[in-house]
Amino acid sequence: MKFCDLNTNCETLNLSREQVADAFGDYWVNNYSQKVYGHLYKIHKNAKDFLMAMDKVHYDLTKKMENARPPRFEYEQIDDKTLIMHYKSQRGMIDFMIGLIKGVGKFYNENLEVEKLSEDKVKIVFKGKI
Ligand code: HEM
Repeated sequence: MKFCDLNTNCETLNLSREQVADAFGDYWVNNYSQKVYGHLYKIHKNAKDFLMAMDKVHYDLTKKMENARPPRFEYEQIDDKTLIMHYKSQRGMIDFMIGLIKGVGKFYNENLEVEKLSEDKVKIVFKGKI
C-alpha cells in the first residue's frame, strides 16, 4: 500500500495532494484541534485575527518541544479584506497550510478565497460571514 508523499498523488485514495490537504485541514481544525486547542479559537473572534496569531502560536508552543521546527509566517496586509501570508519552512507543506486556512474559514463561518501565489505565499480574501 502506498501513502501520499509530498510529490505524488495519493494512489490508494485516488485523491490529489490538494484534496488530501483540504480534508486533513478540515478535520484537524474542526475536530481534533477543537478538543486540544479549543481555547485558542475562543480568544479570536474571526478568521483573520486567528490567522494573524498563528506565527506567535507556532513559535511559543514549540519552544519547549525537542526537535520542533515550526513553520513561521509573515504577514502582508494588502487592504482590510486581503492578506498575504508568507510561509517559511524547510518542509514544503504549503498545500497543508492552505487546507488548514480553509478549515479556519469554515470554523468561523466565513467565506474565504484562498489562492496559492507561489510555494511560499498564500493570498487570502476575507469575503464575510456565510
Ligand atoms: C490551534 C492552532 C494550531 C496549533 C496549536 C498548531 C500547532 C502546530 C505544531 C505543534 C506543529 C508541528 C511543528 C513541528 O513539528 O516543528 C504544526 C505544524 C504545522 N502547522 Fe500548525 N498549528 C495550528 C494551526 C495552524 C494553521 C491555522 C495553519 C495554517 C496557517 C498551520 C500550519 C502548519 C503547517 C503547514 C505545519 C507543518 C509543518 C511545516 O510546514 O513546517 N497550523 N502546527
